Amino acid sequence: MCGIFAYLNYNVNRERRYILQVLFNGLRRLEYRGYDSAGISIDNDFSFSRDPSTSQSSFSPSLSPPPLVFRQEGNIESLVRSVYQDVAATELNLEESFSIHAGIAHTRWATHGEPAPRNSHPQTSGPGNDFLVVHNGVITNYEVLKETLVRHGFTFESETDTEVIPKLAKFVFDKANEEGFHCQTLSKKDIITTQFEEVSTEKITGVLQMSWKQGEFDREEIEKMRNLLKILEKPTVVCSLGKVSSSGDRTVTFSQVVLEVMRHLEGAYALIFKSRHYPNELIACKRGSPLLLGVKELNEDVCGGSAFHDAKFLSKNGNPKELFLSSDANALIEHTKKVLVIEDGEVVHLKEGCVSILKFDNDKGRNGANLSRPASVQRALSILEMEVEQINKGKYEHYMQKEIHEQPESLTTTMRGRLIRGGSCKAKAVLLGGLKDHLKTIRRSRRIVFIGCGTSYNAALAARPVLEELSGVPVTMEIASDLLDRQGPIYREDTAVFVSQSGETADTLRALEYALENGALCVGITNTVGSVIARNTHCGIHINAGCEIGVASTKAYTSQIAVMAMLALAIGGDTISNQERREAIIDGLFDLPNKIREVLKLDQEMKDLAKLLIAEQSLLVFGRGYNFATALEGALKVKEVALMHSEGILAGEMKHGPLALVDENLPIVVIATRDACFSKQQSVIQQLHARKGRLIVMCSKGDAASVCSGGACRVIEVPQVEDCLQPVVNIVPLQLLAYHLTVLRGYNVDQPRNLAKSVTTQ
Ligand code: F6R
Repeated sequence: MCGIFAYLNYNVNRERRYILQVLFNGLRRLEYRGYDSAGISIDNDFSFSRDPSTSQSSFSPSLSPPPLVFRQEGNIESLVRSVYQDVAATELNLEESFSIHAGIAHTRWATHGEPAPRNSHPQTSGPGNDFLVVHNGVITNYEVLKETLVRHGFTFESETDTEVIPKLAKFVFDKANEEGFHCQTLSKKDIITTQFEEVSTEKITGVLQMSWKQGEFDREEIEKMRNLLKILEKPTVVCSLGKVSSSGDRTVTFSQVVLEVMRHLEGAYALIFKSRHYPNELIACKRGSPLLLGVKELNEDVCGGSAFHDAKFLSKNGNPKELFLSSDANALIEHTKKVLVIEDGEVVHLKEGCVSILKFDNDKGRNGANLSRPASVQRALSILEMEVEQINKGKYEHYMQKEIHEQPESLTTTMRGRLIRGGSCKAKAVLLGGLKDHLKTIRRSRRIVFIGCGTSYNAALAARPVLEELSGVPVTMEIASDLLDRQGPIYREDTAVFVSQSGETADTLRALEYALENGALCVGITNTVGSVIARNTHCGIHINAGCEIGVASTKAYTSQIAVMAMLALAIGGDTISNQERREAIIDGLFDLPNKIREVLKLDQEMKDLAKLLIAEQSLLVFGRGYNFATALEGALKVKEVALMHSEGILAGEMKHGPLALVDENLPIVVIATRDACFSKQQSVIQQLHARKGRLIVMCSKGDAASVCSGGACRVIEVPQVEDCLQPVVNIVPLQLLAYHLTVLRGYNVDQPRNLAKSVTTQ
């Protein structure tokens, strides 16, 4: 949905111009996650604003100047333009050099509040920008928090759910630093009495004071108080307490403030905090939404390179380094391959070139709300298996175009090491390492339930017939949101297969939680290593299609079908009766990249067809059997990028309604490649001819004459492959058609209106 990014340089001089460039480039890499507004925050000129009169707080005499915030409606380039205009207007020095600096950035896909500067991130705690937050996700309890904060004098300027977060941080920080406002000076009796009296007299101000450092209370008592307040449905804010020393210095740390804030947030989020109270520090935390830390040490040779195996112990010896935080790996790969995948409940503190990680030691509470003591954790860095070229457009004009054309390669990578060609004994096999311990259970399942959204759902639908055929296990289909709406039955004896390119789609994730609660065996099929679906399922298969950046999914779709065909082979087992069929499918899979190369030659033909259809309002796509999914997916591509109404129709249903739409004007694509449904599709074509339908027929090579015998039609001839793999071939011309239609109609093909790549809100 949204993309968040941060850059911290430590002990290495970077000019403001360079820092801005890193932040903007980070956002450009994440733009596909949301592109209706964007913003950044960088530090002000430290030299000119040390004037204590600019300080917003009485607790920190040496408070740094408020960080600068730039926010702009529109895409990243609008932000870039506006920042440089503002910089010129404010005479901000782009050459000013910082040996340490923390900048944060955000690109937004609006959920709460229209795209506008006030709703863009960073969201702030108010004048003075004491706390700034960039957020990906949704805070579900923001209304109750907002109500409480308003009662404490905060005013809100945006309609976002996010704004409560920096304001809550300021509230916690200020309370923690108010002299005398800390548990240590209150006895256990005082607190309990005060709070309970306030509750009973309905005078509660919404502040419950407590501290994990406070030795006087045990966890159970604190939990009891909190529960009581919850039961009474009083908004509560729990303060972490700091202590003000006699010299006036604060002792509450940035991570204590954020931990306290995090306790109150419900929903899904990845957050990065910046604060003028903690200059040159950043905090990142997450629950449900993805977030990675990238680590680049600038003179690894000197410090031995391996010093980073444990992120907690990044060397403290002052080695220059750059640290990055990002919603996904795309924005990191040009800087470093060393990453830490931040986990739910973790609070990652970047300070003085070191990274420390705190985690709630008990993360079981509903929405993570619990009062257990946060513990320090040690984590190893991983190495990204990704190259910069993968995230560049190369010779192509658009990502979607590139991704359509790289399908021969992406399919090859998907199958690499998983298919075994027959040797002299002609044995052919499929190896899916991620499933090997679970195949028996899957075979014995009462049913297999495919769950996904959009294109991923369509891919599963395309694979369903072959899975049913080879496994003999009933296969049912669920759109994730619909399963949740109905609370449809999922049983312990079920195998639930979650299909998701991103591995972070909110509906699919919720459906996964639901299936886990109901005891099903959960299998993930995703393109994103380390994604929530990859981590939270019992087992799974990565599709290895490579990074997909175009918002419209193309290469992931074909790789998903290939993976599910291999899944069918793996579950089906090798019997004499199905040996021939298995071998044909395996041969077909091996040959698939070549067939895709062949079908990609239709590029110009599809462009010509797009020219004919450019002004149409609507396009129908008829398919059945293996290619009902192709009809749905082809129509989805056309509608989402070309912004043309398009509908995929099960040809078997034609006479039950859709036939009424048919006339000589409405263009209709009929998929009639060779398979068991071919003769039925021929009959559909005849009936459409009889109604003077304007037909475009997709058929197997050599069938043009026979499919168009009953009337005029335009033909798209595609190479024939094994029937269950035909959807992989057939979708390609429709992807090309959607692509060319979009470009010819003048729309942004990689960033379709109102859409974003990963839908992380329900
Ligand atoms: C359409 C498209 C979407 C996604 C859907 C699920 O081109 O990309 O329909 O397929 O939002 O996303 P994933 O697969 O990431 O769960």
